Amino acid sequence: MPLAIRMARDQDAHLLAAVERSAAQAFTAYEGLQWLASGDVLNASQHQTFIGNGHAWVVVDEQDQPWGFLCGQDCGEDWHIVELSVAQAVQGEGLGRRLIAEVRRWAQQQGYSGLTLTTFSKVPWNAPFYTRLGFVQLDEHSLGGFLQQQLAAEQRHGLNDRCAMRLNLQR
Ligand SMILES: CC(C)(COP(=O)(O)OP(=O)(O)OC[C@H]1O[C@@H](n2cnc3c(N)ncnc32)[C@H](O)[C@@H]1OP(=O)(O)O)[C@@H](O)C(=O)NCCC(=O)NCCS
Repeated sequence: MPLAIRMARDQDAHLLAAVERSAAQAFTAYEGLQWLASGDVLNASQHQTFIGNGHAWVVVDEQDQPWGFLCGQDCGEDWHIVELSVAQAVQGEGLGRRLIAEVRRWAQQQGYSGLTLTTFSKVPWNAPFYTRLGFVQLDEHSLGGFLQQQLAAEQRHGLNDRCAMRLNLQR
């Protein structure tokens, strides 16, 4: 099935919660994080905001149906990845890597200095995956206010063993 990446459009917004829920099924196999498989996901209105800001991309099939998405927000000099999800049926086929590559190109063109995100340190398809793409873990001294708040909010929501990572886009 050939899949292409494009900017997300308004009509995608109501389809993306199902993609994120499907993606989260990956956690059913991970001891201690199974609850994430039925956890909260971004809603259509939140997706509309990312889309309206021009900060959302989707991977679509030949029928233009989304199988994955990446959305984020401006964060000063850096651009922050809020969510990356690829539907379970097509995970491990390089789509996550392609979405990051697309956004990396775009962010560089826009003049951002880096890409940031928060993720699980030990889950194999989280921090180890981003490390292979060139992201580095930030220690507490190099965390800006936004990332500090992000990690604190995640901890309040019961997410432990999280870290913040950054990909330097400056040549
Ligand atoms: C993380 C995610 C977006 C990656 O997308 P993907 O299309 O599956 O990723 P890719 O096919 O590009 O592969 C990425 C890497 O992760 C590895 N990977 C993917 N699924 C994996 C799994 N279940 N177990 C171990 N490694 C896995 C791949 O082997 C690949 O490794 P490589 O860097 O050596 O090539 C996707 O797995 C997903 O949606 N997971 C659930 C939600 C999630 O964790 N989102 C990230 C929040 S920070």
